[in-house]
Amino acid sequence: MRFQTQRPASWQSCIACGNEMVETDPHSRCTACGGLLEIQHRPPAMTPAELIQRFTERRGGQPGATASGVWRFREIVLPSADAVVSHPEGNTPLLHRVALDSWAGVENLLLKHEGHNPTGSFKDRGMTVGVTQAKRIGAAAVACASTGNTAASLAAYAAQAGLPALVLVPAGGVATGKLAQSLAYGARTLLVRGDFDDCMRLAEQASEQLGVYLLNSINPFRIEGQKTIILEMLQQLAWEPPDWIVLPAGNLGNTAAFGKALREAKRWGLIERLPRLAAVQAAGAAPFARSFAENFARRHRVKADTVATAIKIGDPASYDRAVQAITETEGVVLSTSDAELLEAKAAIDASGIGCEPASAVTLAGLRHLVTTGVVKPAQRVIAVLTGHILKDPGQLLRYHQELEPPPAGANRPIEIEADLREIERVLRKQSLGPSAHAPQGDNAHF
Ligand code: F0G
Repeated sequence: MRFQTQRPASWQSCIACGNEMVETDPHSRCTACGGLLEIQHRPPAMTPAELIQRFTERRGGQPGATASGVWRFREIVLPSADAVVSHPEGNTPLLHRVALDSWAGVENLLLKHEGHNPTGSFKDRGMTVGVTQAKRIGAAAVACASTGNTAASLAAYAAQAGLPALVLVPAGGVATGKLAQSLAYGARTLLVRGDFDDCMRLAEQASEQLGVYLLNSINPFRIEGQKTIILEMLQQLAWEPPDWIVLPAGNLGNTAAFGKALREAKRWGLIERLPRLAAVQAAGAAPFARSFAENFARRHRVKADTVATAIKIGDPASYDRAVQAITETEGVVLSTSDAELLEAKAAIDASGIGCEPASAVTLAGLRHLVTTGVVKPAQRVIAVLTGHILKDPGQLLRYHQELEPPPAGANRPIEIEADLREIERVLRKQSLGPSAHAPQGDNAHF
């Protein structure tokens, strides 16, 4: 269908065939060709300066949805929403550590830490919009396939909205913190004997045939929420874009969301030029990087295997949208080995920031881009850390306590008798006297 009269504020359109569907259509794909959907908005009825002023006024305002790092940008996220299901979420920091500049080989690396969201990952930004939409259209139940974080986020927002939630996760393939969250927030949790790609296929079938509302990132309302990682980052940078934005890539929802946010921000006059996106995959789960290496001549699917379980995905659902994001931003796609991403993670953790394994592909990927001359040391780079350090305690304890030989940076705990002399002995042996504790480098400057 195509709208004949005055366009509504927002509608859905198919990125493959251009078919248009009303904003309240509950299908997860184009009803004409099965392609991926995208939300279209009428251009905001404000000048860029007026829009920016409105976003600025709301920042740090009263607690509640208006100050949410998602709904603050509602004019370009979901203008027609009135009642929203908001924790609130977003308002995540941009962090800097000298040690990580030198680790990556750049002069100015900022980390946007999405692990500071309510359930500990960036998924909350998409989920507040997705669950708001589920309520608006009267969905009876919501569902997703997940490597863990989407499930935890869906479980929390569905609980808040009073909606039954069904989550499908690979049995034995989800980090402890994420599984525990899904159970605690009350989602009906199905441990599927298969991998994420099996879960995704099942979840799509369930939405088509059993009528549950699908809240994976193929749902275009999720993408609208995740755009705000970029919008909030640009606001923090006074609308002066960096040169590069580096992000982990799994199911490719976030890559798609970043591309759309940047395209719209430029189209609507919020920024004058586009930063370049660098999407980083784990080498054992890198079908997108493979396609990029062939100029996207062909879509690849692989059997995924990596320690970064969040991005252990072999057949990413948002492939087509992500190709557009990389192409339009003159972006790059690359992959890093598990050993490299764990080394990068250990550096991020040891800087006092911390993140889950999938997030660390950004730092490992950036170092690779600097070494190969794609990113110049003086360029301004933002890496997005997507999940909290405590999401995957199993990996952490293995790395620090169990691996033989201990990997670089492994911090073995020491068991002692309840005797002060034992502490003294440890201090002497490790030269941990008071002088060794002098802080170095990373004091905040005002
Ligand atoms: N980082 C983390 C921590 C994630 O949980 C995910 C995806 C990604 C990066 C990749 O983002 O899929 O948009 O390319 N997690 C999904 C989930 C698949 O089910 O939680 P993407």
